[in-house]
Amino acid sequence: MPVTIKSEDEIAKMKVAGHLAAEVLELIATHIEPGITTAELDDICHRHIVDTQQAIPAPLNYHGFPKSICTSINHVVCHGIPADRKLRDGDIVNVDITVIKDGYHGDTSKMFIVGNGSVKARRLVDTAYECLCLGIDMVRPGVRLGDIGAAIQQHAESRKYSVVREYCGHGIGVEFHEEPQVLHYGTPGTGLVLTPGMIFTIEPMINIGKRHVKLLGDQWTVVTKDHSLSAQWEHTVLVTDTGHEVLTARAEESFEIAA
Ligand code: MF3
Ligand code: CO
Ligand code: CO
Repeated sequence: MPVTIKSEDEIAKMKVAGHLAAEVLELIATHIEPGITTAELDDICHRHIVDTQQAIPAPLNYHGFPKSICTSINHVVCHGIPADRKLRDGDIVNVDITVIKDGYHGDTSKMFIVGNGSVKARRLVDTAYECLCLGIDMVRPGVRLGDIGAAIQQHAESRKYSVVREYCGHGIGVEFHEEPQVLHYGTPGTGLVLTPGMIFTIEPMINIGKRHVKLLGDQWTVVTKDHSLSAQWEHTVLVTDTGHEVLTARAEESFEIAA
């Protein structure tokens, strides 16, 4: 399947889906505290998406994934399965939300620090967010995917962190994962040239230690091989005529419309 260019009508639906996904992250923020289990977080999100938003949690049954959200704690890189593990003071946790509304997907994730967190953990979480924002800042017609990857990689490595290579951002729309693949490392001036109407996610996974990952026996949970902490943030981004629009922006965020 080639890269799809979304019509005005599709873009309107993607904005709705993106907004709903962002709203779930805003809701779950109020529940992140020591003692709550990730299964409880999943249940709260599931009920809000299904009952209040009348939308579909995309992860549930996606290639057999058993839950409605992903929760990835500490050295878990991505695709953590909600379970009976309680959040503890000092944990860092990524909550990844994907909703389907009116046939279109919105995909976004953020990091939470439970309680205070160490300086080391906060620095990682902040840098991973900066990596996402630097990637988003690049998005406009004429820019190439390699420019985005290079900006993210450069920032992470300037802090002596590493970028996970096995997982990447992706086109999104009617399908959860469409072309193109959006790598979080790369070479400027290479790769697909962006044009208006493209919609894709940027979702860098940044490790304190080495970049290598391994898949656990549940066939979903991805962890750092060296068990170092990992952080990830994700937004769904539209290429506009003049720049970009972040379809999953939360009220706490302020994105410039690139001129
Ligand atoms: N939301 C993830 C992403 O950003 C994908 C999760 S797939 C699942 O692409 F099956 F684990 F939910
Ligand atoms: Co995604
Ligand atoms: Co996601």
